Amino acid sequence: MHSKWIFNQIKSLKIRKKINLLDFASGNGRNSIPLSKKNILVTAIDKDQEKLNNYKNLNNINTICFDLETNKEWPLVREYYDVIIVVNYLFRPKIKKLITLLKKDGFLFYETFSVGNEKYRSPKNPNFLLKDKELLYIFGEELIPLSFYDGQIEGKNIAIKQRGSFKKGVFEKTPCY
Ligand SMILES: C[S@@+](CC[C@H](N)C(=O)[O-])C[C@H]1O[C@@H](n2cnc3c(N)ncnc32)[C@H](O)[C@@H]1O
Repeated sequence: MHSKWIFNQIKSLKIRKKINLLDFASGNGRNSIPLSKKNILVTAIDKDQEKLNNYKNLNNINTICFDLETNKEWPLVREYYDVIIVVNYLFRPKIKKLITLLKKDGFLFYETFSVGNEKYRSPKNPNFLLKDKELLYIFGEELIPLSFYDGQIEGKNIAIKQRGSFKKGVFEKTPCY
């Protein structure tokens, strides 16, 4: 089942033309596959070729098998994506590089587990749990925050997550007199 939150964010964009979307650490394609049927050109990147095999031959999806956590340059085009989604993945050392991949006026929708989740289930490792307001601290200076949530999310199992949506644009400057 896809992430309902991600799909609601994308629906709110009221897309009328074809867009380029990056599904970062796309896993078995539960988001990429249905998105590719919505007039969206999806780039799906993950280190697990077996998972990518499920959807590597589908129309509108370009799958890339790549380890995103080494020193190697990501095989992704800068300032190319209208939308980037990240669901249930966190690797702090390179996280800010996502900003360079977004087009001007592009959107980043990020959803992953946060501190508090460890009381209920995996992930429990602090490396995979966002700290208080961390998505805002990471992206909020260079991108415009549009929405932010931290807490329990809907679903049959309890999960604690942060959800942040951001836009790459120009901050309105308040004139000083
Ligand atoms: C919990 S899954 C989430 C997958 C997908 N985003 C989703 O929501 O269904 C995390 C994914 O991150 C991928 N991953 C973990 N480490 C990675 C790395 N170093 N490089 C690329 N992908 C990685 C895994 O292969 C896995 O598919």
